[in-house]
Amino acid sequence: MTDYKPMILKGYLSPKGHLRDIADYEAQGGYQMLKKAFAMKPDDIVNEVKKSGLKGRGGAGFPTGLKWSFLAKPEGKPRYLLINGDESEPGTFKDRQIFEQNPHQLIEGAIISSYACGINACYIYIRGEYAKWIEMVEKAVEEAYAKGYLGENILGSGFNLKLVVHKGAGAYICGEETGLISSIEGKRAYPRLKPPFPAVVGAWGSPTIINNVETICNIPIIIDIGAEAYSKIGAPDHPGPMLFGISGHVNKPGVYELPSGTLILDLIYKYAGGVRGGKKIKAIIPGGASMPIIRGEAAEGIGMNAESLKKAGTLIGTAGIIVMDEDTDIVEVIGRLAHFYHHESCGQCTPCREGTGWVENIYGKFLRNEAEKRDIDLLLSICSQVEGRTICALADGAMWPVRHSITRFREEYEKHCKAPDSLPHEWKYVNKAVSGV
Ligand SMILES: Cc1cc2nc3c(=O)[nH]c(=O)nc-3n(C[C@H](O)[C@H](O)[C@H](O)COP(=O)(O)O)c2cc1C
Ligand code: SF4
Repeated sequence: MTDYKPMILKGYLSPKGHLRDIADYEAQGGYQMLKKAFAMKPDDIVNEVKKSGLKGRGGAGFPTGLKWSFLAKPEGKPRYLLINGDESEPGTFKDRQIFEQNPHQLIEGAIISSYACGINACYIYIRGEYAKWIEMVEKAVEEAYAKGYLGENILGSGFNLKLVVHKGAGAYICGEETGLISSIEGKRAYPRLKPPFPAVVGAWGSPTIINNVETICNIPIIIDIGAEAYSKIGAPDHPGPMLFGISGHVNKPGVYELPSGTLILDLIYKYAGGVRGGKKIKAIIPGGASMPIIRGEAAEGIGMNAESLKKAGTLIGTAGIIVMDEDTDIVEVIGRLAHFYHHESCGQCTPCREGTGWVENIYGKFLRNEAEKRDIDLLLSICSQVEGRTICALADGAMWPVRHSITRFREEYEKHCKAPDSLPHEWKYVNKAVSGV
């Protein structure tokens, strides 16, 4: 174990086990970074965030400062900050720890980010099913208003910010940034094509920044220790403290905050208590369900940062690590995910709407041991016809588990096939047509 001290999930170390009460947060130096930020020029804060190397924690890993610098001039319109706490992807469950442990750091981060970007209206969008956590954040927001950290002329700075907690609409697609915009506008959460990007045309047609909850919680840390010190935490290509949600066949599943770049196997064995029953690891999905699955042995020496994971043929996503032991039926796991993605497809794009359905049906064949070996290639062919051909990335995320599980665990699919095909597909078709059977 390292002597790393949490910078986001600090609540665990406090006497109450959380920092939800504003007095407890203030006693730990809370809202002091806001004062420091108000003494800086907004552009200097944007530059500091750029220099820090902070990359978004919502899945795509886009550099935060760069995103902020794309924000279009208001031209008479308001600008918005939407904080994405939809968190509906299987295997991703870190943001709710922030809501529970340290919601004021999120609020402080929201105020500093809004000030830096010249924004006076911010929404924290929280997954509707997170009722308990919504209440916690709402209470924290009320306290922040009461203490003058939100509202008009905050701390005498002349800066105003209205912050609203918005309940999500109960679908995975609400977390996709343009789907989230539609949802917040009160419409069905249909994503839309980009460009224009939200930083130019976002909520209600106005320039909008969308950032993940964990991303925003990093902002007070950058203001506190400075960009240079921040950029030295963890892996240089993807620096900072990181929340690793570890689930699956481990003894101590949970969310662990450590520097980025921590080795996957250290996370599993030193922190999450190792694999249940001392079994071997068959497979790992390192970044939430959509990211490419890898074989257990491929995790050797791989750290949780983009560059290192690339060597193992996968991506960091949301840093939600799903561990599967040697007894796991990979086809069953990916079949379950196929059901999820089919159910969650919003249906706008034909390749996604139909493709996710076909894939789910084909997994049904494998799981009933009715599939033939050519169904494996059929799945790959569907992946190729869906990937990169849709409005949003849900469809890619639906196909990657299929593609990568086949290329890395083909033998598992073959085990689920019935006897090998006796005749090529076309012959059977002709025979059927001729015999009328
Ligand atoms: C289907 C789908 C669901 C998503 N769900 C979330 C989510 O729950 N939370 C989140 O922060 N980002 C989610 N994203 C990514 C967002 O579109 C966006 O990239 C992110 O909120 C940007 O924040 P960041 O730059 O701080 O990472 C999702 C993307 C897709 C395609
Ligand atoms: S890719 Fe799927 S989820 Fe995304 S917009 Fe198209 S149909 Fe909807």
